[in-house]
Amino acid sequence: GKYRVVSTKSMPGTRWINLLIQNDCRLEICTEKKTILSIEDIIALIGDKCDGVIGQLTEEWGEELFSALSRAGGKAFSNMAVGYNNVDVDAANKYGVAVGNTPGVLTETTAELAASLSLAAARRIVEADEFMRAGLYDGWLPHLFVGNLLKGQTVGVIGAGRIGSAYARMMVEGFKMNLIYFDLYQATRLEKFVTGMFLPTYGAFLKASGETPVTWKRASSMDEVLQEADIISLHPVLDKTTYHLVNKERLAKMKKAREAILINCSRGPVIDEAALVEHLKHNPMFRVGLDVFEDEPFMKPGLAEQKNAIVVPHIASASKWTREGMATLAALNVLGKIKGYPVWFDANRVEPFLNENARPPA
Ligand code: GLV
Ligand code: GLV
Repeated sequence: GKYRVVSTKSMPGTRWINLLIQNDCRLEICTEKKTILSIEDIIALIGDKCDGVIGQLTEEWGEELFSALSRAGGKAFSNMAVGYNNVDVDAANKYGVAVGNTPGVLTETTAELAASLSLAAARRIVEADEFMRAGLYDGWLPHLFVGNLLKGQTVGVIGAGRIGSAYARMMVEGFKMNLIYFDLYQATRLEKFVTGMFLPTYGAFLKASGETPVTWKRASSMDEVLQEADIISLHPVLDKTTYHLVNKERLAKMKKAREAILINCSRGPVIDEAALVEHLKHNPMFRVGLDVFEDEPFMKPGLAEQKNAIVVPHIASASKWTREGMATLAALNVLGKIKGYPVWFDANRVEPFLNENARPPA
C-alpha cells in the first residue's frame, strides 16, 4: 500500500478493511489489550509516517495528537462515532487534518436503545428480573412491580436531530404517546411525520373510535418540556452549552419530579450525575435509563446501588449492522480524504468532514 492507515481498535466486519487495502492503503490495526489508549500510545502508533487514523470516542484528539499526525504527513482522522466531543476540530484545522464522524448509520439503533430503556424503566423490567432470579417471587400480587402505562402519556425529547427525532417517532407511533420536543432548530421531518402521516391515519382512527388522539408541540424552552413530559429523553450534542443541562434545579422542575422517567443515550456530562444520584435517592419512583456516564467508565458514587436506575455500558449504537456501517463510514472518511475523492454518499445522511460543516450552533 502507498498510504499507511492506522486504526486504534479492531472494528466489526471486513468491509472497512477491504475498502482500505483494495485502495492503496496498508492498514495497521492496534492489538493493544487495554481498552483505553493513552496519548503516548497513540503517538507511538502514528509513528513517522501515517496518512490517516481511525480513532475512538475514548481518545482525546487535541493539539498533541493532531500535531503528531500532521508531522507524520497525515491528512485525515475519523472518529468511529457520531459524537465528536472528544475531538478538538479547531486543533485539527490548525494542523490541516480533516475530521470525519459516522452519522446516519446509527440513528435507528441508538433510538431503539433509548426506546428499550424507556420501556424497561416504565415497566421496571430490570428490578423484576433481579427479583425473579433472587427467588423472591412467591405468587401473583396486585401490587407487584406496578409501573407506568405509556399510552396517552407525554414523551419529551430534548435535542430533536436525527436520533431524537427517530426516538420521538417510535414513541408516538409505537405507543401512542403525546409529544413535546425542544431543539434550537425546527425538526421538520419529525413534524412532517406526525402531522402528515401519523395524525391523518392512526390519529383519525383513534378519534373515530372515541379515543383521545395524540397531540404534539415544539416547546419554546427546555423547561416547558420538563414541566409537561412524563418521560424525557436527552439527545443533544455535548458542548459547552449542554454541559450539565440537567442539573439539580431542572430535576426539581420536572412535572413529575417524584415519578418521571429520564433517559440518556447522548453523552454523560449532559447530566450532573452527582445531583441525579441525590434525586434518585430521595425519589424512589423517579427512574432513569442511562447508557452514558459523566466519568466513563466509572459511575458516580451511589448510582450503582439505586434500584430506580437502569445502567448499561454505552451500547446505544451496538447492533451488528450499525457497527459495521460505522466502521465502513470511518474508513470511507479517511480514504476519501487521502485519495481526494469527491464526496459520493448522500449528503442528507452523512457529514463526512466536520471541518467543513456540521458545527453546532454558537
Ligand atoms: C457513540 O456514542 C457515538 O457518538 O457514536
Ligand atoms: C393477569 O395476569 C391477568 O390475567 O389479569
